[in-house]
Amino acid sequence: MKGIVLAGGSGSRLHPVTLAVSKQLLPVGDKPMVYYPLSVLMLAGIRDILIISTPAELPRFRRLFGDGSGLGLRIGYAEQHRPGGIAEALLIGAAFIGGDPVALVLGDNVFHGTSFSALLQRECADLRGCVLFGYRVGDPERYGVAEVDAAGRLLSLEEKPSRPRSDRAVTGLYLYDGDAVGIARGLRPSARGELEITDLNRVYLERGAARMVDLGRGFAWLDTGTPESLLKAGQYVLTLEERQSIRIACIEEIALRMGYIGADECFALGARLATSAYGRYVMDIAREFGAEAAVPRL
Ligand code: G1P
Repeated sequence: MKGIVLAGGSGSRLHPVTLAVSKQLLPVGDKPMVYYPLSVLMLAGIRDILIISTPAELPRFRRLFGDGSGLGLRIGYAEQHRPGGIAEALLIGAAFIGGDPVALVLGDNVFHGTSFSALLQRECADLRGCVLFGYRVGDPERYGVAEVDAAGRLLSLEEKPSRPRSDRAVTGLYLYDGDAVGIARGLRPSARGELEITDLNRVYLERGAARMVDLGRGFAWLDTGTPESLLKAGQYVLTLEERQSIRIACIEEIALRMGYIGADECFALGARLATSAYGRYVMDIAREFGAEAAVPRL
């Protein structure tokens, strides 16, 4: 299975903060926003990942992750030249996807909840059609909105409806079987001139091949689109991390726990960041897994 992180867009609701830097590189708590969606793919067991961003921003993502080998991943990069819609990611990534199933995640979506990894792996292992992840919100008109039957089959799907038929928002994580690129090729641009992901999902719906998994009450899906929501997302992460002495979306730890890298490699990744608490946390986790600490503890 392949994974795509779409980190495009202008982040205009955050201007002037995002005039000179991509929204997806802004901090959420103690790490760049893009760590969160990348973590989602890693937790799903996906190691072949394409990051899509604007030509101006792509070099920064490359500086952050390189070819991904440090994390036991294969990370490639592709440009989206203008905001062409979320579904355009499947066309930009067509050669990379190559007929495989694919998980597409938006670079500004922060997910957190227990057993998420098991849920993702289950859904990816048995993937037919498309799987969306739903989350109950108080302001559904801001999102894609779904109606589902008791079995989780999708009944209707609308993009930012003025009168939503349910309070179930469609989150920015989409799992597709091998048909997604073909469907994306047949889409017509919306009035905004973009290939809308909701139109693509609606094709699966019409085929009776779209399902929605409810993320439930014990789960956090956080907005990062405005200064207030970005700050609140950061506070959520820092509060949990401090209280539980764990870190959310720590990509080095996930790579270690998923078996993508060994303890010594993980330790070395942490040691490079040893002046930060994040780096020392990575080193501590690596020690728990038996890393032979070559670098003295600070
Ligand atoms: C996009 C999708 C929308 C989805 C949302 C999730 O909206 O079009 O269906 O609910 O992402 O983050 P955007 O945030 O690009 O306006």
